[in-house]
Amino acid sequence: MTKDLLEILGAQKPILSAPMAGAAGPKLIAAVCNAGGYGVTPLWTKSPTDVVSGIEDLRALTNQNFAVNLNLSFPYEDQLEACIDQGVHGVSLFWGMEPKAIERAKAGGLVVLVSVGCAAEAKVAADAGADIVVAQGWEAGGHVWGQVSTIALVPAVVDAVDIPVVAAGGIADGRSMAAAMMLGASGVWVGTRLLASEEATIHETYRARLLDASEADTQWSHDLYDVDWPDAPHRALINSTSRVWQEAGSSAPGKRPNENQVIGHRPTGEPVVRYQSYTPLPETSGEVEAMSLWAGQSVAQIREISSTAQIIEEIYQEAKKLLKHGSSIL
Ligand SMILES: Cc1cc2nc3c(=O)[nH]c(=O)nc-3n(C[C@H](O)[C@H](O)[C@H](O)COP(=O)(O)O)c2cc1C
Repeated sequence: MTKDLLEILGAQKPILSAPMAGAAGPKLIAAVCNAGGYGVTPLWTKSPTDVVSGIEDLRALTNQNFAVNLNLSFPYEDQLEACIDQGVHGVSLFWGMEPKAIERAKAGGLVVLVSVGCAAEAKVAADAGADIVVAQGWEAGGHVWGQVSTIALVPAVVDAVDIPVVAAGGIADGRSMAAAMMLGASGVWVGTRLLASEEATIHETYRARLLDASEADTQWSHDLYDVDWPDAPHRALINSTSRVWQEAGSSAPGKRPNENQVIGHRPTGEPVVRYQSYTPLPETSGEVEAMSLWAGQSVAQIREISSTAQIIEEIYQEAKKLLKHGSSIL
């Protein structure tokens, strides 16, 4: 089904960039598209007018197809209409299952990608007309919708639907891409690895932690960084905030150490409080180490900063080689 996926996306390589709000700006997304992959741009935090500007910014950098990522747990209807008006190629829907959103996007002429955490959800999405499902495993960085690991999730989703499945969570090199393809995925969705790209818009302290971290240095929490986005489980690097919280008994929101404490400022001057769901940008000031440093378990595979184009090419070539010669392993 990889051929089907490439046809649907109009891309050359079955590698999609995970939308990473804050961290993945137009330069990163355009670089993925221009390297033959498919970019997914996170515009769900923007007003409908800013969604239009975001699409225009990206179109100035690439003439390839891309999708806009929208969050179904926040108001998304006007953003979706802006995408339809703009005639973007695709829309990626996450954090919820709304057949009516899928149906509206399809009626508006968009290719629809839906992120899922189990096979039953994938079936609902496919029945509502989704073109592609993105199976996000538990090892993923950022907000994590399901609780099943990629290696168990992908084949279950592949067996449940007859549309292309894209594997997300833990894909950081050609080995993990080849493994996902052997599980039946038609393509892969890469997040954490692209955080360590030259184009990612993240603070240097965050980047340095990514370079240093092992596979055991991330933590999945139900509601640690819940300010501005409650009840949304996530995975981030273990840091001073998570350590102190754990030492204090991992107490519930409202009873945690140093709640509401201002630990830094956004480039706009707005305060960042402890436990805020926030991706530190290059110009963020304050205790960046104590902020939500989203990362997946594949962070262990990150040992250098490279250009986005180089990362896409390396993953693709290594996976291709492994898949070609895989039959000689056993
Ligand atoms: C910094 C960061 C921000 C993220 N923001 C979003 C987002 O805005 N929208 C979304 O659908 N997923 C978001 N995610 C989740 C990714 O789309 C993806 O599922 C995940 O990164 C895949 O796992 P990996 O990190 O192991 O590659 C984010 C992930 C990270 C690491």
